[in-house]
Amino acid sequence: MSEAVAGAVAERFKELYGADPEGVWAAPGRVNLIGEHTDYNDGFVMPFALPHTAVAAVSRREDGVVRLHSQDVEGGVSELRLDSLTPESDTAWTAYPAGVLWALREAGHPVTGADIHLASTVPAGAGLSSSAALEVVVALALNDLFSLGLRGWQLARLCQRAENVYVGAPVGIMDQTASACCEAGHALFLDTRDLSQRQIPFDLAAEGLRLLVVDTQVKHAHSEGEYGKRRAGCEKGAALLGVDALRDVPYDELDDALSRLGDEEEVRRLVRHVVTENHRVEQVVSLLESGGTRAIGPLLTEGHASLRDDFRISCPELDLVVDTALASGALGARMTGGGFGGSAIVLTEATEVDTITTAIEKAFTTAGFTQPRTFEATPSPGARRLR
Ligand code: GLA
Repeated sequence: MSEAVAGAVAERFKELYGADPEGVWAAPGRVNLIGEHTDYNDGFVMPFALPHTAVAAVSRREDGVVRLHSQDVEGGVSELRLDSLTPESDTAWTAYPAGVLWALREAGHPVTGADIHLASTVPAGAGLSSSAALEVVVALALNDLFSLGLRGWQLARLCQRAENVYVGAPVGIMDQTASACCEAGHALFLDTRDLSQRQIPFDLAAEGLRLLVVDTQVKHAHSEGEYGKRRAGCEKGAALLGVDALRDVPYDELDDALSRLGDEEEVRRLVRHVVTENHRVEQVVSLLESGGTRAIGPLLTEGHASLRDDFRISCPELDLVVDTALASGALGARMTGGGFGGSAIVLTEATEVDTITTAIEKAFTTAGFTQPRTFEATPSPGARRLR
């Protein structure tokens, strides 16, 4: 499978640039099992990699030029000079790969140019980290080609910097780390404060379970402004409570913290979500490590309620997926990713997949919503070289 994909992408590279690429790399999208909007609060997250990947065929250049082409976007090859890359000057897709080159050079790495052709199967705008996959695949390719010797978490940091500063989106570190560091058959328990990680075995099929990803096809329009507002509200909460980040508010001191926030109602809701969500991640980890996979279902569902009612980033389509799945026998369900559209995940017995999928489709028809796209997600490998 990946050999065939690598071959096709290499072939296209040769048509575009007139020579074989020096290599071909892949980096996946992700779903987040639990731990939403905790990463910019120094908290815990637990994503796993999807089988869907961004693939890059890349060769080095030595003349300070980067040429970029994407299979998935109309238009030809874009040519940029490395010494004129300027943060927030590019609003096209090219900002993601160019931002990575910018971030590498800014950090002092001797990257002298590249020819890059990209093709991705990660659905765009679906909350499944298609942007992080693009960034990470480019970073990994350059890391290998220029022998930079950077580890996965270091590449993730550089990619986050590319997105924060060059693209101008105030995202946390989860998506890039998931794409760079996840392993097949595992979910990644990540402490976003110091990026320490633990791979947690998550073999659903062996337990007769499935995890459905339901892409509502609602594009998260205006989400960037709302994301920034939530982030600012969390930072305000931390400042009012006198801590570095909301991660530092212990779960068993939540009531006290909330009472200290007085009439700051909105901040109280944000704080309650972050503190309870960090606690849910820790509970999910201990359940998975003690073989209680089915028992994580209610925690996923609680996470959704918290994102809907306290963090206020769900939407009618996401709520309909969750409510319908639960009413049709799912073990748990929640929105995943940044919110305001995108995808939900549903944990279910393998035997209930058809019933739940059909019920969701019917509910969407009745509500007059565009049909969602549903697929089963297996925890897949993180970023890697294909050839
Ligand atoms: C987006 C961001 C992540 C994270 C999630 C919410 O995916 O890129 O950093 O904040 O939203 O958990």
